[in-house]
Amino acid sequence: MTQNTETSFGYFDDENKEFVITSPHTPLPWINYLGNDGFYGLISNTAGGYCFYKDAKFRRLTRYRYNNVPMDSGGRYFYINDNGVVWNPAGRPCNTELDFYQCRHGLGYSRFIGRKNELEAELTVTIPLEMNAEVYKLKLTNNSEQTKQIGLFSFIEWCLWNAQTDGENFQRNLSTGEVEVDGNFIFHKTEYRERRNHYAFFACNKDIDGFDTDRETFVGMYNGFNNPQVVSANKAANSVAHGWSPIASHYFNLQLAAGQSEEIVFMLGYCELSRENKWQALNQINQTPARELFAHVDTAKKFDHQCKRLRSYWQECLDVCQVNTPDDRFNRSINIWNQYQNMVTFNMSRSASYYESGIGRGMGFRDSHQDTIGFTHIAPAAVRQRLLDLSATQKQDGSAYHQYQPLTKKGNADIGGNFNDDPMWMILGTANYIKETGDWSILDEKVPFDDNSQAVSHFEHLRAAFNHTANKLGPHGLPLIGRADWNDCLNLNCYSNDPNESFQTTEHRKDSVAESLMIAGQFVLYGQEYVRLCQHIGMFEEANAAKTHIEKMITAVEQYGWDGQWFLRAYDADGKAIGSHKNAEGKIFIESQGFCVMAGIGLENGKAQSALDAVEEHLACDFGIVLQQPAFSRYDIALGEISSYPPGYKENAGIFCHNNPWICIGEAMLGRADKALSYYQRINPIYLQDLQQTHKTEPYVYSQMVAGKDAAIPGEAKNSWLTGTAAWSYYAAVQYILGIRPDYQGLSITPCIPKSWPSFTVQRKFRGAHYQISVHNNSSDKQGLYIDGQAIAGNTIDSAKYTENHVVEFYIG
Ligand code: BGC
Ligand code: NOJ
Repeated sequence: MTQNTETSFGYFDDENKEFVITSPHTPLPWINYLGNDGFYGLISNTAGGYCFYKDAKFRRLTRYRYNNVPMDSGGRYFYINDNGVVWNPAGRPCNTELDFYQCRHGLGYSRFIGRKNELEAELTVTIPLEMNAEVYKLKLTNNSEQTKQIGLFSFIEWCLWNAQTDGENFQRNLSTGEVEVDGNFIFHKTEYRERRNHYAFFACNKDIDGFDTDRETFVGMYNGFNNPQVVSANKAANSVAHGWSPIASHYFNLQLAAGQSEEIVFMLGYCELSRENKWQALNQINQTPARELFAHVDTAKKFDHQCKRLRSYWQECLDVCQVNTPDDRFNRSINIWNQYQNMVTFNMSRSASYYESGIGRGMGFRDSHQDTIGFTHIAPAAVRQRLLDLSATQKQDGSAYHQYQPLTKKGNADIGGNFNDDPMWMILGTANYIKETGDWSILDEKVPFDDNSQAVSHFEHLRAAFNHTANKLGPHGLPLIGRADWNDCLNLNCYSNDPNESFQTTEHRKDSVAESLMIAGQFVLYGQEYVRLCQHIGMFEEANAAKTHIEKMITAVEQYGWDGQWFLRAYDADGKAIGSHKNAEGKIFIESQGFCVMAGIGLENGKAQSALDAVEEHLACDFGIVLQQPAFSRYDIALGEISSYPPGYKENAGIFCHNNPWICIGEAMLGRADKALSYYQRINPIYLQDLQQTHKTEPYVYSQMVAGKDAAIPGEAKNSWLTGTAAWSYYAAVQYILGIRPDYQGLSITPCIPKSWPSFTVQRKFRGAHYQISVHNNSSDKQGLYIDGQAIAGNTIDSAKYTENHVVEFYIG
């Protein structure tokens, strides 16, 4: 993996597992995520962004302005005043042209190097493992022949904790802000005198020559972040904020001799205290926890040590599965960036990105379940906990809250439930977890329902989920869609003509009969998994009853869900077919083709193949597979939000990347390897290096949506990072293209690779064992599975038998 394809904005450094950005003027801010354990930060390639503790809505530490001009306002800013020339190590917000700029986004850290007038600034930003703090190390080096006298200012702006009210309740906010300054420590204690038991602080390990905590004093009422008046004056004002907008800034008057370097370490930390221990004197906060926290990194050496720990942590995570195929970009994606993104989607769900404000959507029920399929092999214990947390937001009738808040773990009442695909995702998440770990005990774990505190086993939750779908059928025996299924813009019961109503929460036809073919496929697919779970724990009657439901569903799909060449998408509230050749627009949709084929419906009678051929003919284009065709050209009250988007965008015939891997898996199930790989590659940004100007979003992570063929600029991506595409693409590539697939009894090998690949290898840690797998293609003599040189029947490595290091070979004819 050494290919370093340089483009106008940067390149991959596979050796260091970094993406190196070489211009501060990327088409959009290209961001990175910091933090693994509950304290998180988002950081752009010019050090913009914000951080929060657990919940981007309720516990936000620093302010950030979405939708601002200029873009990406607010961040961790360092200002250097070198003899009147003011600049930032990461290029912004001053925008002073630098002699050299580089941003290295790595796994859990970002490093910036800026040079101006023979002064070099290297800024490293990270969140150490298990620490509720962002830490910064700034190294300044005077590369000139003369001594330099430099003014250095740090700067962050506090958010008054609740990001939502912080941006709207100004009549209160402008009076509540409070800070405390003690030496190098600046404390943010807004609302601490009342109900809050937490504060934040910004500290540094070098004695300061001044400080500021009042934004207007530091910036100047009509200045911007690009020209703060205190920095221009090259002298701190020692302002203490009372209300208005509190900030934290340290000031240093530094002298650097020719060739001299200086390193300063900063910490932006968060502390929670017990009510009894909040104060050390009247209105003086108890500083002990802050000082203890900072003591972990208060020298450059300690800082570097934390960076090393983080690096080994990531190495261990990635080492669980490493592949080597003839395709370098495939390897780079699978071995580094896709797994990294999987961790981020697992941690964030759809809550906080540069496109998700962190206040609108918490942890999605369907989103979080799907995110686990790309992440369970990396952190099974965290996944187990997540599955149980999700289970606790389910209601007794099997339905679920569509979202929950990470801080409270409580279902979000504003959005409510009734998205009828939600329950069945629980079975995917749990089955996937057991297949990876062999840990069946999760089924016995006791969890309450949201509306009944009496805890029952997690298995009972899955049963409620299965029955919820099994018993909510419409006139064709297909599942009722409720508010929406996976496509939450296909609102068949909304019927809204009022622009002030939300498509997501409005339901005018509550008792309607609208049915979903996507849920039908989902029910068959995960229902079969439910049957296997029941059989394993000896519930044979339950298994047989479930089987009967599934068989009936398959019959209903074949009878009422087939349009002649592809699967219908739905029936609307009036029983009209959606996704049929008879319709003028929206004749064919991707979701039902993906889910019915993945469920195995029509594999034997040609329907599956016909459906995927139709996908290729009608939906596929260079940048991926669009969601439906033809796009809706006008608003259709019977369909809802899907027809509200302009053609080619989002759910209206955009390439909604999340569902593309479903087709990729379907193709692999049909054995059509070239098509499977081609669909995988089309939406993977790592293959798009030459198209970055059009694609716009980060080349190292998937975006939720790429504009489809009907859009003004096809191929233009939006909403990077937080998308189910990450987990699903990884799952499709590893489990279906490479075919390295965990199953209940062990690791199965069922590759579907193109003839042009002679072989590939996989290093896989699995349930405590370590398998070195080589798959040989086009083999003329040997066939099938060999473990340590011995031919084995079937294609599964039995994990009970092969518990240590084993050499595994698989031959394909
Ligand atoms: C978007 C969907 C999203 C939904 C929920 C819609 O406007 O198009 O992709 O899931 O809102 O917030
Ligand atoms: C984004 C949402 O987060 C997800 O839950 C939904 O399935 C897709 N949009 C498709 O509408």
